[in-house]
Amino acid sequence: MSEPLFNRIAVIGLGLIGGSFAAAARKHGLAASIVAGSRSARTLEQGIALGVVDEGSQDLAEAVKGADLVFVSTPVSAMGKVLSALKPGLSRTAIITDGGSVKGNVITAARVSLGEHYSRFVPGHPIAGKEKSGVGAADADLYQDHRVILTPTEATDPAATARVRAIWTAMGAEVLQMAPDYHDQVLAETSHLPHLLAFSLVDTLARQGDSTEIFRYAAGGFRDFTRIASSDPVMWHDIFRENKAALLQSLDLFSDGIARFRQAVSDDDSDALMGIMTRANTARAHFMAMNGRTSYTRAHHSGDDTTMTDSSNSNPTFVVTPGGRLTGRVRVPGDKSMSHRSIMLGSLAEGVTQVEGFLEGEDALATLQAFRDMGVVIEGPHNGQVTIHGVGLHGLKAPGKPLYMGNSGTSMRLLTGLLAGQAFDVELTGDASLSKRPMERVASPLRDMGAQISTGNEGRPPVRIRGGQPLKGIHYDLPMASAQVKSAVLLGGLYAEGDTSVTEPAPTRDHTERMLGGFGYDVRREGATSALSGGGTLTACKLEVPADISSAAFFLVGASIAEGSELTLPHVGINPTRTGVIDILKLMGADIRLENQRDAGGEPVADLVVKAARLKGIEIPQALVPLAIDEFPAIFIAAACAEGDTVLRGAEELRVKESDRIQVMADGLAALGVDHEVFEDGIRISGGTFGGGEIQSHGDHRIAMSFAMASLRATGPITINDCANVATSFPGFAQLAAHAGLNLEVK
Ligand code: S3P
Repeated sequence: MSEPLFNRIAVIGLGLIGGSFAAAARKHGLAASIVAGSRSARTLEQGIALGVVDEGSQDLAEAVKGADLVFVSTPVSAMGKVLSALKPGLSRTAIITDGGSVKGNVITAARVSLGEHYSRFVPGHPIAGKEKSGVGAADADLYQDHRVILTPTEATDPAATARVRAIWTAMGAEVLQMAPDYHDQVLAETSHLPHLLAFSLVDTLARQGDSTEIFRYAAGGFRDFTRIASSDPVMWHDIFRENKAALLQSLDLFSDGIARFRQAVSDDDSDALMGIMTRANTARAHFMAMNGRTSYTRAHHSGDDTTMTDSSNSNPTFVVTPGGRLTGRVRVPGDKSMSHRSIMLGSLAEGVTQVEGFLEGEDALATLQAFRDMGVVIEGPHNGQVTIHGVGLHGLKAPGKPLYMGNSGTSMRLLTGLLAGQAFDVELTGDASLSKRPMERVASPLRDMGAQISTGNEGRPPVRIRGGQPLKGIHYDLPMASAQVKSAVLLGGLYAEGDTSVTEPAPTRDHTERMLGGFGYDVRREGATSALSGGGTLTACKLEVPADISSAAFFLVGASIAEGSELTLPHVGINPTRTGVIDILKLMGADIRLENQRDAGGEPVADLVVKAARLKGIEIPQALVPLAIDEFPAIFIAAACAEGDTVLRGAEELRVKESDRIQVMADGLAALGVDHEVFEDGIRISGGTFGGGEIQSHGDHRIAMSFAMASLRATGPITINDCANVATSFPGFAQLAAHAGLNLEVK
C-alpha cells in the first residue's frame, strides 16, 4: 500500500462532521493514526468503540500533539476558544483546517487564536450533512461526491491548502475554492435563508391555537418545505448569529420578493403571478440541470441540507460502433433559428402569441429565459407549445442581473441588436465557447446607429449595452454573409428613427424578415437588400416552427452513406436560404426527395425521403456556402465516404462557430485516418475507407453529431468526448439516432 497522506490526524469535536471525517480517513487509509479531542468522555469512548478513531483525549492540546493535520469541527461560535485551547499542543508544521459553515468569523477567530500557526490554517466547509447528529451517525461515505469549499486567505500557505485539498479529494469530494466573504454570501442565500424560512413557517403555524388540527392535514407540500426544520437547532442558532450580515441581506431581498408576491395575490394580478411562478419554475429546472453537470449531485445521502437528487450524466461521451443503417420515420426537433425569433418577436408584440414546434434545446431556452428575466410572462414550453404574453416594443423591463446566453451565439447577437434601443442598461454573458466568439460584427454597425455598446477583450463577450440611447436608421453593407448580423441591425432598426436597411454579399437565412412580416411589420425586400422603418408595432400571431433542416442534415448524411438505409424526415423547413445541404448532397449523388411540399405559417416545409447512394467528391459551389453554413460538419463526413476529393473554399466563417469547425473537424478526420488538407477558408477531403478513433468535439454539438454518423461507415468504434452541448440544438439526439439504427451508446 502507498504511504498515507498524513501520519497522524487529530479530529477536534467528534460529531457527525468530525466523526465522518475520521471514518473516511480510516476507510481510504489516509493517516497512520487518528486521534480525537473532545470535552466529552462519553463521545470519545463511543468513537473508539465504533472504530472511528484510535484514541482520544479530553485535553485538546494533548489531543493535537504529534498530529500533522488537525481537523476542527466544533460549533463556529466556539472556534476561537477551541483553537486557543489546542494551540499549545500544535507542532511547528501542523496544518489546521475546519468544517465550519460560516467562514468570515472563523477566520477572524483563527487569526487571533492561532498566532504563528495562522498561515497553516486552511478554512474549509464540507457541504454535506444528515438530519442525525453525533458520532453514532458517522459515515465514511458522507463526503463522497459532495462539495467541499476551501476559503484560503492571502495569509494561507498555498502548500497547506494543497494538502487539505488532497485529503478531501481522496475522500471522494469535489473541492472548490472561493473568497470567504463570497462563501458566506452564497451560503446565506442558498442554505441559511431556506433553513430560516423552514423554521419560521413551522413555528408560525405551531403557534396558532389549533395547530394540532392544522398539522394533521399537513401533507406533501408542508413536509417537503419544512424537512430542513428538523436540523439541529443549536447549530443553526450559531450559524444565523455568525453569518448575521449576509443573512440579513438575503432576508431583505426575500422580503421584497414576498411583498411582490403578496401584492400580486391581493390585486388578482394573474400576469404577475404567472410571471413569478414560470420564472421560478424554469430557474429551478435550470439550476438542477446546471448542477447535473457536477459530481455532487450524484450523491444520494438523505437529509443533506444541500444535496440535489438530479442524477443526469455530467458530460456524456458517445460511443458508436460500426455498421448499422438508418430506417423509418424520424421527426427531428424544431428549427433553432425560428425558435429564437419566435420568443423575441412574440415578447415584443402586442397580445398573446402561440408557438407550436418550439425547440426545447438549451440555446432557444437561453433566449426564452432572457425574456423572462426582462419581465415577459412566457408559459411553457410544454411539448413544443409556448404561450408568450407580449409586452409591446417598449414593455421590456431591466433585468436584475446579466443575461446568460449559454452557448448561443444567435441569442447574444440578435439580442444585442434588439436591446441597443431599450431604456435600460444590460449585460450579456455566455459560456466558455461563446466567450471566445466575435461580437464586434454586431456592435460596430449598431454603434453607427447611435448605440453605446462595449465588448470584452478582443471584441468578445461580455457585451454591455448602455440604455436610453436614441438610435437612427442607417444603411449597412454587410462585410460577411451573416444572418445574425443582418438580424441584429434590423432588430435595432425597430427602435431607430427613420429607415434601416442592410445589403448582404450573398443570401443568408431570412427568418427574421419573414417572421417580422408574420407579426404584421412591414419589411421591404429588393434583391440583396432588406429595409424597415422604425416606430411600428408587432401584432401577436400563431406560429408553427417546422423541424430543423440543420438537425435533419445528420440523418440525410447518415442515410446516404449507410448501405440499405431509407429514411423519412417529416415536416422539415425547406426555406431556400437553408437548403444548401440538400443541393450539395445531391451534387454528390445523394438520393433525396422532397415530398408533400406545403406552406406552414410563411415558411415552406416538406417531408424529406433519403436513401443510401454512392457519393462522389465535388467542388462545393461558392454560392451554396452560406446556405449550408451550419451543415458542413455533416457534409465533411459525407465527403469522407465519397469517391474522390471534395473541396470547400470561401468558408472562413466556419472558424468562428461554436468551435473552429475547420480545424476541429480536420483533427477528428485525422483521428479516423481520413486524408485531407486544411486551408484557411476551407478543406479538401479525400474519401475512402476509414477506421475508428477518439474524437474531441470541443463542446460543439454539430461536431459530435457528425462523427456519430461517421460510425455507419467506420471500420472501428468511434468515441466522441464532450457531448453535453448536443442538447443545445438537438435534445434527444442519441435516443432518436439509436432508434433509427445507429449503434450509439451514451456513457
Ligand atoms: C443563425 C445564423 C448563422 C448560423 C447560426 C444561426 C441565425 O450564423 O450559423 O447557427 O439564426 O441567424 P451567422 O450569422 O454567424 O452565419
